Amino acid sequence: MPCWHLALYDDFAWFYNRYWNEEFHSLAFPILERIWLPRVARKGRILDVCCGTGYLAGLLTDRGYRVTGIDASAEMIAHARENVPAAAFQVADASRFHAPGKFDGAVSTFDSLNHILSDEDLQAAFQRTAAALKPGAPFAFDMLLESAYQTNWADAFSLVRDDHVLVLSGSGFDFRTRLAQCHITMFRLGDGVWRRSDVEVNERCYTTKEIDAALELAGFAQTEYYDARDLGMSGQLGQGRTFVVTTRSTTRATC
Ligand SMILES: C[S@@+](CC[C@H](N)C(=O)[O-])C[C@H]1O[C@@H](n2cnc3c(N)ncnc32)[C@H](O)[C@@H]1O
Repeated sequence: MPCWHLALYDDFAWFYNRYWNEEFHSLAFPILERIWLPRVARKGRILDVCCGTGYLAGLLTDRGYRVTGIDASAEMIAHARENVPAAAFQVADASRFHAPGKFDGAVSTFDSLNHILSDEDLQAAFQRTAAALKPGAPFAFDMLLESAYQTNWADAFSLVRDDHVLVLSGSGFDFRTRLAQCHITMFRLGDGVWRRSDVEVNERCYTTKEIDAALELAGFAQTEYYDARDLGMSGQLGQGRTFVVTTRSTTRATC
């Protein structure tokens, strides 16, 4: 099935590339350098699942790693290719991709996996990732837990510049569906004409029990959870965010 609901990042890609990378990764990268990167073979191959515009791929490439990024949005991937020509990028759904060869490590950042809205698809994304990894290779990702959605997802934010405007408003968290939603309206001025686009970002809240079960079924073991705040990610970005490091088992993954 085509991942039509994911093309939403196509419209958001220009703003994301300009405003959304640096703050998060200035806090997240030192965490990854502490809890995950030392376990990845030096100059090894790294798979970045839901790589966005390639900011993390750039940091890793600069340190000598060989990075392949996959993302469902063709526009996000177009920015990634421009930002990091030395890395390889593929437009693909995290629940269905196939990356050639085997990787020494995998990573997925900025609550990307919360964008996957069903248990089956999250399970499939873990299975695809396990299948791409060498036995014993580490996989790190961060996800938002319920307290993040309860606290932050009704907030509003706006950005007004001479030739672009963005208005973001959260609609809160639905306890029954466990979905959180925010609406983004954007305007950009080009050739004297203002163009508007609207996207709706949906995220699904998973419990650590659900994440654990899906990882185990996919062939991951020795899973460790770290509260982002304990690792120094302060402010709203760290609220309710958990970093997870797990290991591809040496026995075969179920896929
Ligand atoms: C919040 S952004 C994070 C991007 C990047 N990981 C970073 O740290 O900047 C979420 C990304 O996940 C991608 N995404 C969401 N669902 C996806 C899926 N099922 N398969 C692949 N990419 C997906 C979006 O297109 C978007 O680029």
